Amino acid sequence: MLHKNLKPFPDDFFWGASSSAYQVEGAALIDGKGPSCQDVKEIPEGTSDLSVSVDHYHRYKEDIALMAEMGFKSYRFSISWTRILPEGTGKVNAQGIEFYNNLIDECLKYDIEPIVTMFHFDMPAALDERGSWSKRESIDWFAEFATVLFENFGDRVKYWLTINEQNMLTLVGPVIGTLHIPEGTTNKTKEIYQQNHHQLVAQAKAMQICHQMLPQAKIGPAPNIALVYAASSKPEDVIASQNFNVIRNWLYLDAAVYGVYNNLVWSYLEENDATPHVTKEDLTIMKAAKPDFLGINYYNTATVEAVSESDVDGVTGDQQSRRTIPGIAKAVLNPNLVTTEFGWEIDPLGFRSTLREIYSRYRLPILITENGLGAYDTLTEDGKIHDPYRIDYLRHHIEQIHLAITDGVEMMGYNPWSAIDLISTHEGIKKRYGFIYVDRDDFDLKTLNRYRKDSFFWYQKVIATKGQDLTN
Ligand code: BG6
Repeated sequence: MLHKNLKPFPDDFFWGASSSAYQVEGAALIDGKGPSCQDVKEIPEGTSDLSVSVDHYHRYKEDIALMAEMGFKSYRFSISWTRILPEGTGKVNAQGIEFYNNLIDECLKYDIEPIVTMFHFDMPAALDERGSWSKRESIDWFAEFATVLFENFGDRVKYWLTINEQNMLTLVGPVIGTLHIPEGTTNKTKEIYQQNHHQLVAQAKAMQICHQMLPQAKIGPAPNIALVYAASSKPEDVIASQNFNVIRNWLYLDAAVYGVYNNLVWSYLEENDATPHVTKEDLTIMKAAKPDFLGINYYNTATVEAVSESDVDGVTGDQQSRRTIPGIAKAVLNPNLVTTEFGWEIDPLGFRSTLREIYSRYRLPILITENGLGAYDTLTEDGKIHDPYRIDYLRHHIEQIHLAITDGVEMMGYNPWSAIDLISTHEGIKKRYGFIYVDRDDFDLKTLNRYRKDSFFWYQKVIATKGQDLTN
């Protein structure tokens, strides 16, 4: 559809950006915080530990002031489970509550809406030791954590996100360093989908508790959703793309919105003797819970072709969705797309088609909770960071949101990744995403001073003009 007249971005659109606790805060084991799986995992080669990260814990005032200077209407951040409950359950850490009280108040001081992710890849290490999401009790652990969050922050936080990228945890968890597979597991697929099921129920419970405790608040999931293209018009490739679309995308949204398992996914699990144990009560909880909106992370589409007998299971594009799954689909590169310096495909048009598809399936407002470009940036001697590549990337994606709005998709906001440079999931800080540059390297903490990138000033203008002026 070619539009001649674009509808404006809504007046109350949440222009902002995102981060996650373990990737920005640092202060990993101080002021009462317990270790999370991120603090005890094997450190990926070429990167360092997360003990300091970008020191947002101590510098949040400066960081929020910079976000306010950019004109942010929202800041999406996550709350570290072990800063609140060091052991995962039980004793609450007052200093953790105080830190997030301060962070939230600092946002509100500048009229920045805090959008809080409850779980972003940082399972308490103590709960990992107790079996993590493998255990049915994990549903109660998460419900307990959710209740503590709503009790303490619900008077000021109106927007909540449950679990960040549950679909990526299930598909490529080991790359992110977060998947806990108990020793002796014979059917890995079954184990992973059992954990996935517990997360689905935990999420549904959290949504219910939120609605009971905070009737004015809104809550939604935050999966990474992106269409899966067929590599060709061969009907076999189209079937493969449908297979991978349900495994990668619709499983998560069908469960969150309608409280049901997608039939194709279920059939795949049956085929692999991997159906999770689902109780009647689980289904009742899943059906009763309803999100108010959908948080969506979008980086790039995937492309697949029909899988052959000889294709083996494997991830070919780190924690993107490039994965070959026997019996489902084989990941291929899309020859129509360029890639980032880190090999991620760039597909702004795929953003629009993904948004259209999500909205026509679920009819819920969409909040973009991630989207962005990881790149090497250089700090010049005069304290500048020229990042035209990031501006281009963001501009092209915002243009597609604008078109999607004109298509009739209800969009709530745009919170790209990331507000400030942070430690990537497994490629360190050399892979930068922020509008704000942090002066540190992977193995040298340097000054940790903050600098405004060119994209900082560009985004400031975008926000000031409500998305009308996207020029440099
Ligand atoms: C998303 C995650 O998958 O992608 C973030 O929610 C992550 O935590 C982001 O940082 C970018 O991925 P990476 O691997 O480049 O850090």
